[in-house]
Amino acid sequence: MASTWIYITLTMLLCVESGESRTFRAAVLEHALHLPNITLAVSRQQALANVEPNLAEFERQAAIARSKSVDILVTPEDGIYGMRVSRRTITPHMETIPDPRNVTWNPCTAPADIPNVDVQRRLSCMARNNSLYLVANYGDIQPCSVKNDPNCPPDGHYQYNTDIVFDPNGTLIARYRKHHLFFESQFDKPTEAENVVFETPFGRFGVFTCFDILFEKPAISLIEDLSVGNIVFPTAWIDTLPLLAAIQFHSGFAMGMGVNFLAANIHRPGHRFHGSGIYTPDGAAVYYYNDTLGTGGGKLLIADIEVNDKPSRPPVEDQPKPDSKMLSAVQFEFQSYLFNDLFNFVSLRDPHADEIKVCHNALCCHATYTANLNEGDMYALGAFDGLHTHWHEKKYYLQICTMLKCANSSHSSCGTPTLDASSIFSNIDIRGTFNTTYIFPEVLMSDNGSLALAQTQLSFKNGSLVTKNPLDLPLLSATLFGRKYSLDKGFDDDKASG
Ligand SMILES: *[C@@H]1O[C@H](CO)[C@@H](O)[C@H](O)[C@H]1NC(C)=O
Ligand SMILES: *[C@@H]1O[C@H](CO)[C@@H](O)[C@H](O)[C@H]1NC(C)=O
Ligand SMILES: *[C@@H]1O[C@H](CO)[C@@H](O)[C@H](O)[C@H]1NC(C)=O
Ligand SMILES: *[C@@H]1O[C@H](CO)[C@@H](O)[C@H](O)[C@H]1NC(C)=O
Ligand SMILES: *[C@@H]1O[C@H](CO)[C@@H](O)[C@H](O)[C@H]1NC(C)=O
Repeated sequence: MASTWIYITLTMLLCVESGESRTFRAAVLEHALHLPNITLAVSRQQALANVEPNLAEFERQAAIARSKSVDILVTPEDGIYGMRVSRRTITPHMETIPDPRNVTWNPCTAPADIPNVDVQRRLSCMARNNSLYLVANYGDIQPCSVKNDPNCPPDGHYQYNTDIVFDPNGTLIARYRKHHLFFESQFDKPTEAENVVFETPFGRFGVFTCFDILFEKPAISLIEDLSVGNIVFPTAWIDTLPLLAAIQFHSGFAMGMGVNFLAANIHRPGHRFHGSGIYTPDGAAVYYYNDTLGTGGGKLLIADIEVNDKPSRPPVEDQPKPDSKMLSAVQFEFQSYLFNDLFNFVSLRDPHADEIKVCHNALCCHATYTANLNEGDMYALGAFDGLHTHWHEKKYYLQICTMLKCANSSHSSCGTPTLDASSIFSNIDIRGTFNTTYIFPEVLMSDNGSLALAQTQLSFKNGSLVTKNPLDLPLLSATLFGRKYSLDKGFDDDKASG
């Protein structure tokens, strides 16, 4: 009798526990940047006037977020002063940002502690006034001594591309300096990749920025070493088809790493800066991709997502192993460039195939599909296993299997960006003989000349990407984007395991 009661009580407890999913309300701002014309060295006063329109817009959006009970708001990289500015002319637009590990500082309530912090005060008050966590990207100036510090730049200070986080009281709680700069001569690279986290009542968050997402440190090390289940990601991402469109890659990262991923991009579609979203390990909760005409403007995206206490990567143990028979067989039908990398391809000829395959170096990609292939739509399965050498000084190692729509009916157009497709796939299954467990699954569809994600229609485990039900829009690409960090070249500090 007693044991029955215990059993019933335990069952009730378990039901209550499992029935209760804790959620929080996240927001990301795709910010229509007011780009100041920063071509001259200006006074501090002029610099503050230059950034005012962007801060005013942040304030407006933070108030809207408050009215919708948002818990955390992420704003984009370069959202305050823009990009492509010189080192000298950007300086008056920046401030010294203290290290929150050493000082407890609330610029909204104690602005006088540190001089010249108008922008940080505004951001802090935005968090405090609206009672939310606020993530912003800003510039940090740290004076140094050319005499005593051999790395100190000749102008006597470091300038860092920096993410800062304020809690709902307005206290500065995190500061992260971007490690992988992307042609940003106005900034200095910090000597070490920092793993920066902050705690909230709805879980632990990590922070990194833009190009950082492609590398092991800090993106992967942060998630794995500190068991981070949520990432805030201010970015100024150049939307790059066919495999690195913002919504496509960021959603793939969230799924591949098993994290909530809050990506805020600036909105300048004419310059290909666009695509923001709130992504979970199970798919996109909300995303925004406005076409290159950019008629939609900026947007505040809001979603309730489940608390993710630790990264929940899908299992990757049982990936197909390299098959020596396959490698000696005919490996491809034709070759074509995709983002400057020469892929091996086979074309999709029939409406259904149980197994098509293509290999490149040690990677063989296998696919099964059923599709209503329209005349004029050419699709191909491609494989690439090698160093991506587009940026000569930084070579990163890719293993990619992708089934994609070619831009037109010529082989050489496979890998060329396109938004057009008309063929509907009712099932897709892609696997590869990857020699990495860092694989980001992406399925991108064409939505009347714009892009759409198919994430909630996917299953990804053991390195295999499978559609759960027929896709409702024409396919642009279904991809397993793998990274082999240990074979990267040209990163003095990034040679490590993985
Ligand atoms: C930016 O300002 C400089 C100096 O005042 C001026 O020469 C230039 O034409 C301006 N550029 C734009 C795009 O307004
Ligand atoms: C914060 O609220 C105070 C008091 O209502 C107001 O004076 C101030 O302008 C607000 N600041 C911001 C940044 O919203
Ligand atoms: C805000 O400040 C109050 C009072 O100091 C403190 O109890 C509370 O924990 C703080 N809230 C956050 C989110 O830091
Ligand atoms: C097909 O696309 C390729 C690459 O984008 C382009 O060079 C070529 O001119 C196009 N061919 C036709 C027939 O449109
Ligand atoms: C996988 O990569 C490791 C290095 O990380 C290498 O030693 C091993 O030979 C590779 N295996 C295959 C099958 O390519």
